Amino acid sequence: MIEPRRITVELGFRSYPIVIGDGLLGGNFDLAEYVRGEDCLVVSNVTVAPLYLEKLRSNLGGKKVAALELPDGERFKTTDSLHQVLDQLAESGANRDTTVIALGGGVVGDIAGFAAASYMRGVGFIQVPTTLLAQVDSSVGGKTGINHAQGKNLIGAFYQPGIVLIDTDTLQTLPERELKAGLAEVIKHGAIADIDFFAWLEDNIEALLAGQPDALAHAIERSCEIKAEVVADDEREAGRRAILNFGHTFGHAIENSLGYGELLHGEAVAIGMVMAAELSDIEPASRERLRDLLRRAGLPVSPPAVGAQRMFDAMSMDKKVVQKQLRLVLLDRLGDACVTTDYDEGSLRRVLEAAE
Ligand code: NAD
Ligand code: GLY
Repeated sequence: MIEPRRITVELGFRSYPIVIGDGLLGGNFDLAEYVRGEDCLVVSNVTVAPLYLEKLRSNLGGKKVAALELPDGERFKTTDSLHQVLDQLAESGANRDTTVIALGGGVVGDIAGFAAASYMRGVGFIQVPTTLLAQVDSSVGGKTGINHAQGKNLIGAFYQPGIVLIDTDTLQTLPERELKAGLAEVIKHGAIADIDFFAWLEDNIEALLAGQPDALAHAIERSCEIKAEVVADDEREAGRRAILNFGHTFGHAIENSLGYGELLHGEAVAIGMVMAAELSDIEPASRERLRDLLRRAGLPVSPPAVGAQRMFDAMSMDKKVVQKQLRLVLLDRLGDACVTTDYDEGSLRRVLEAAE
């Protein structure tokens, strides 16, 4: 076991730690001290609970631990699943001292977090992410929510956890395709904020794909540092935080047009980043570096044939539309992103034509 790494998300009295290490689940970390009262509800799913619920129980010595296993999949990120969590809280007589613990990937984390934000206007909340994507992105920063037929993550709340506990050992059971999808968000962090990290990823992508523990721990730590810094600067996405959505406006439109579940979120974001780079005024060589790294990570880089108009319509539902104008996250250069409305609509349409 290596010494756990610790990063703080600096949000004043709501600051919280992200603890990253191997062997943390199974009693090696006292999570009980972060539980608000005596009762917790672990929200997981039918895939993750059989693998890690019992281990997590031994991190919660002395607490009363109930559990709920949701069905597995993005298509269950719905009001029905949210209500299952709320029903269990209400029927067990949970109060504001109850702590909801999300054990799973981003789907479980987003639903459980929204339930924690909504029940009695806010109960305790802890994130125990078990996918690479959730460890480097969705568990950090307090975005929670569910999907609506009209758009992804359309209903939700900002609600920060009290701690994010990342046991990198959980990645050993993660399907390879999911690991690659998580790498898309890791690569995103390099592309938007740290060219040195991007170059490190170019040198270490094979080690990451092979599940090499030190390489994964570094990629998770640097991603969390970047995300923590951006969130501390702009928690509610009034401005700069939107850079974390690099590739997401195109990616969400692809997911929405294809139907959720066809592509993994990280796969759609990979294609979206290539499209956003196409529209960015950067060196062609930088575009090629991004495309090449994503390709080497085993990610798709070309849009499926969903139709340019359909993608354009889906993009107009994006949360970054302000006064009918779509703001996009583009690159000023590789390693530096901006949020802008300063792009040519004709060029956007040409980029979308790749989806014909
Ligand atoms: P996911 O939660 O669907 O998990 C992927 C699959 O891996 C699932 O089948 C899950 O059961 C399985 N799994 C999870 N951990 C495992 C493990 N250790 N071993 C074996 N199998 C395991 O998908 P995801 O990629 O983690 O998250 C995607 C979701 O996250 C999307 O809904 C997206 O909108 C959301 N998201 C939210 C934010 C945010 O800031 N809140 C950011 C990015 C993405
Ligand atoms: N995944 C984008 C954000 O957390 O803001």
